[in-house]
Amino acid sequence: MKKIILLGYMGCGKSTIAKLLSEKTGIPYLDLDEIIEEKTQMSIPDLFNERGEIYFRKLEHQIFQDLMTNSQSMVLSLGGGTPCYSNNHELLKGTGICSVYLAASIPTLYNRLIHNKTGRPLLANKNEDELKEFIAKHLFDRSFFYHQAQFKVNVDDKNPENIVSEIEGKLA
Ligand code: S3P
Repeated sequence: MKKIILLGYMGCGKSTIAKLLSEKTGIPYLDLDEIIEEKTQMSIPDLFNERGEIYFRKLEHQIFQDLMTNSQSMVLSLGGGTPCYSNNHELLKGTGICSVYLAASIPTLYNRLIHNKTGRPLLANKNEDELKEFIAKHLFDRSFFYHQAQFKVNVDDKNPENIVSEIEGKLA
């Protein structure tokens, strides 16, 4: 059993890289946000708006815990906040679990997220100035949790194929 967990801030490329890594390794791809949406039959923005963030975080924790304690192999893309709540970062230390932090700089994240805010309830209502400041503070707050990952890969100015090769090199 092998679980490869990709974590990092919104917009760092977790889903794209996880899909590609899954294709290259043959290990099945899973996306935590997608699983939450399937189980609830609600979109992430609707969950935040109608049930609130605390409800979302509880569900996220339960599902993540189940995934980390089952015997399924997976390449799993987390939500940006997953390692930062409910001691979820401790679950990354289980046997057979490899975690990789996809680290992106504030300018990289800003340039990606400014065009991709909708669908992300924490960012959707921020204007350009607010968004830059929010990312900077939020990334700082979350940095401790992201650095609990076993490996860190910087993703700035790299294409997905190179990032995947780098991850494979670390996991070898
Ligand atoms: C969140 C990130 C989102 C999603 C939710 C909350 C966060 O996932 O889980 O909107 O707290 O950073 P992505 O990182 O895939 O956007």
